[in-house]
Amino acid sequence: MTAFLTLDDIDVSGARVLVRSDLNVPLEDGAVGDDFRIRSSLPTITRLRNDGAIVIVASHLGRPEGRDPQFSLAPVAEHMVELAGYPVTQLPGVYGPEVDNALAGAEPGDVFLLENTRFEPGEKKNDPELAAALAGLADYFVLDAFGSAHRAHASTVGVADHITSVAGPLLAAEVAALGALLEDPPRPYVVVLGGAKVSDKLGVMKSLLPKVDAMLVGGGMCFTLLAAQGYKIGESLLEEDMMDEVGELLASERGSRISLPTDIVVADRFAEDATATVVPATDMPAEGLGLDIGPDSAEQFARAIAEAGSVFWNGPMGVFEWESFRAGTETVATAFAASPALTVAGGGDSVAALRSFGLEGEISHVSTGGGAGLEFLEGDSLPGLVALERWANDA
Ligand code: 3PG
Repeated sequence: MTAFLTLDDIDVSGARVLVRSDLNVPLEDGAVGDDFRIRSSLPTITRLRNDGAIVIVASHLGRPEGRDPQFSLAPVAEHMVELAGYPVTQLPGVYGPEVDNALAGAEPGDVFLLENTRFEPGEKKNDPELAAALAGLADYFVLDAFGSAHRAHASTVGVADHITSVAGPLLAAEVAALGALLEDPPRPYVVVLGGAKVSDKLGVMKSLLPKVDAMLVGGGMCFTLLAAQGYKIGESLLEEDMMDEVGELLASERGSRISLPTDIVVADRFAEDATATVVPATDMPAEGLGLDIGPDSAEQFARAIAEAGSVFWNGPMGVFEWESFRAGTETVATAFAASPALTVAGGGDSVAALRSFGLEGEISHVSTGGGAGLEFLEGDSLPGLVALERWANDA
């Protein structure tokens, strides 16, 4: 099991603490949409504040090309204040005189939020100068951004070259929950994958297949798999360039662990008020596109989830935001929540789906990680965790 230093190993009272959180949340009309990552990150920040630290929070938001006001963390700062009920001062940059001036008068218990780390060109390159500048703001570094731990960036990895670096409670909880699935998952171990694109998940499918007992695949990605098996999929989402690779995977010995939907909810057009018809997956019409798994498939997936020892779920089964195409995701989510298995959900859309069905609280662990969670479960070493391990080894 991975070993890190934690907040219990440092005395933060009166110290400046740089916390890298993952506050990369969706914005809707300039305001925070789903705030799950903010709610998950706040307990660490509040604990540091209560322990008398001067807390300097850093995060990226989106994928801006340089400084772009649309990607400012200002709405996140406002939302943090609403949730936390204490002041959070939004700083105009990531480092530099304005940041130094604001921090100069700081008192223990003050909380600051730096501007989007990706406004700095050095962030994604893990530029040593940016890392040193960030480290220069603080006495300690707390990496709490599990969702960004797969990125070797200045604010996730580079900083740890300079100041004592520890795992935040959220990151430690994520590693413990996902580590249980990685190391010794209670059997049968079932993975449920959905979402739009098979190209995003093929690597994960290949790495996870040897470890799992069953892999249930729905969502837009299942149509490329169905097409690779020779079925006609009408106008459904198809990634033609993936067909060969997907076909090989399905034909391999391990490919037999993949379950595909046997029926599909087909829409006559891509619209919320489209006419929805359930058809066998082997008999999809030439016109129309699949937007959800059908009721038989959903029941079959639900049974596998109910009988599992552990289940990891990433990606909705259909366009759950639209009433006519939500049943597949809802049936799977309900079974997932009711299952006595160890249940772990990851990825923004699955978490949003669970939340929309009011089931978020029924899951063993809801991960703030999307790509990071998948990489972790594949067995990859995440650069952020490696950076922390060095401090534990040196201690
Ligand atoms: C995520 O949303 O998965 C993390 O915040 C990482 O974001 P990124 O994929 O833009 O690096």
